[in-house]
Amino acid sequence: MRWHRRPDFKVSLPLVVTLAAILLGGCGLGKQSTLSPAGPVAQAQLSMLYESLAIMTVIFLVVLGVFVYSLIRFRARKTDQALPKQVHGSTALEIAWTIVPIIIIVVLSITTVHYAFALGTPQTGKGTVQVQVIGHQYWWEFRYPGTGVVTANQLHIPVGEKVNFSLQSADVIHSFWVPELGGKTDLIPGRTNNLWLEASRPGLYYGQCAQLCGAGHAYMKFTVLAQSPADFQKWLRHMRHDTVSATTPAEKAGLALFKQNCATCHTIQGTPFHGTVGPNLTALAERPTIAAGTLPNTAEGLAAWLRNPPAVKPGARMPDLGLSQGQIQSLVAFLQALK
Ligand code: CUA
Repeated sequence: MRWHRRPDFKVSLPLVVTLAAILLGGCGLGKQSTLSPAGPVAQAQLSMLYESLAIMTVIFLVVLGVFVYSLIRFRARKTDQALPKQVHGSTALEIAWTIVPIIIIVVLSITTVHYAFALGTPQTGKGTVQVQVIGHQYWWEFRYPGTGVVTANQLHIPVGEKVNFSLQSADVIHSFWVPELGGKTDLIPGRTNNLWLEASRPGLYYGQCAQLCGAGHAYMKFTVLAQSPADFQKWLRHMRHDTVSATTPAEKAGLALFKQNCATCHTIQGTPFHGTVGPNLTALAERPTIAAGTLPNTAEGLAAWLRNPPAVKPGARMPDLGLSQGQIQSLVAFLQALK
């Protein structure tokens, strides 16, 4: 009997391709790259990454060089008569390889601590905007203090202006991160963390909860719309007004259904609906996605969500309301008119 027979292990090509696709799939989706900074904070963080990378590259090359040199210079030769001289301990070497890493760590710590404090210090000055971020399982609440404006899962910010974020959590630890703008900072229950960001160019940026917070963690996304300061002010004014315009029969039926089924949990500015359990739905139709980035904000997306939220998003707190197909269509019509 052969005891050391190797098991028949064949690498399946389709398996490798599938695994690679799954692994690499996360790299390109949703434009979440720290390597394409769109603001000074992301740029500073990227510079710090490159600085550390440069130091590590030098260390790697030196170690590799010494290693290769030793392999060649001190290899066993046919002419060798005996073992080479055996060395045990070298005070000079040990002092050197203790002091050099300490210097490297001190240099890296000074840069890191400098950036950590600079990013956590609320900014002041003309045009500085304040946003209160509250993390919920599994969605984002954005409040603009002093304006009465509250929104969810889509943040609006003015381009070229510093935005101070105060980060809080309603339940567990979450983490606020917009890779192209910078971050990330945790939202910790019972305390307030600070972070500031700035977008240098207008556009839509993608954010993501970066701390495992439960079953729906991967679906806790948000978008950041960076717009001109004038457009941003226009949006703030718009959000202070009633965005409900139920005119068609379907929209009117949807409004009645909303009052019955949704108003205890959701707020719509300018209406008597002031629930605070779920996301604020003011001007919902203007957001690119629903359910914290889980579905596109289309009639199909809204219908899929209303049919059975926990089936779309694991751990979603919004229950299956048991709505009929017709009721869902009316509610979709009503929600699509919120702008
Ligand atoms: Cu919130 Cu992960």
